[in-house]
Amino acid sequence: MSAAPDFDGLVAALRGADDLSSVLGTIMPPGRWRHSDAASRLAAELAAQYRYPAADVARRAALLHDVGRTLTTSALAAIVDWRGWPPDEDERAVGPGLMHGPAGAAVAAAVGLAGEGAAAIRYHVTGRADLSLLDKIIMAADAAEETRRYPWAATARRALQESLDLAVAFWITLKAEQVRAAGRKLHPRASQTLASLGSRIAAEARRLVTPFL
Ligand SMILES: [Fe+2]
Ligand SMILES: [Fe+2]
Repeated sequence: MSAAPDFDGLVAALRGADDLSSVLGTIMPPGRWRHSDAASRLAAELAAQYRYPAADVARRAALLHDVGRTLTTSALAAIVDWRGWPPDEDERAVGPGLMHGPAGAAVAAAVGLAGEGAAAIRYHVTGRADLSLLDKIIMAADAAEETRRYPWAATARRALQESLDLAVAFWITLKAEQVRAAGRKLHPRASQTLASLGSRIAAEARRLVTPFL
């Protein structure tokens, strides 16, 4: 299929697949595919470690968490049926950087990953107040998977060794600071996510992020 499928084409390709990986590996650019594949392995490990009962849901949600990134801005704008996961106005205003969360959830729901799995994809960019265990697993796997090569990657992995909550707080704080540095408005859910993790975790995350600002 083409490198830039529309929503229906993406859903059709994934629905017809015996195995999501074989299709995603051909649709995604190599770096993003390696990221998604590594995130799915880490998510499965975290599911076992934190006793999330549906390891396969965790694995598939991580595999699909960035599938919305394969849709162009015009393909995102053309989505009519969001399968229950529409973007909000702030996400629409920012574009693919935030829209790929809801778009990925819509794709996941259309290919049979509904409920918590789709929600974890929906909220993986900003988090939300009252994160589910699966939300945390997907966000931590996104931040700390082994192919990440950014200067902060080792710190993300260290945070995850300490706790799932610290890894999530580190990830949200890092992204929030990047948004602020770019002069953009932070999505309100990102602040709600940090607040929901508690002031001690938020302060520790802030300390860990500071060297990378
Ligand atoms: Fe993402
Ligand atoms: Fe990601």
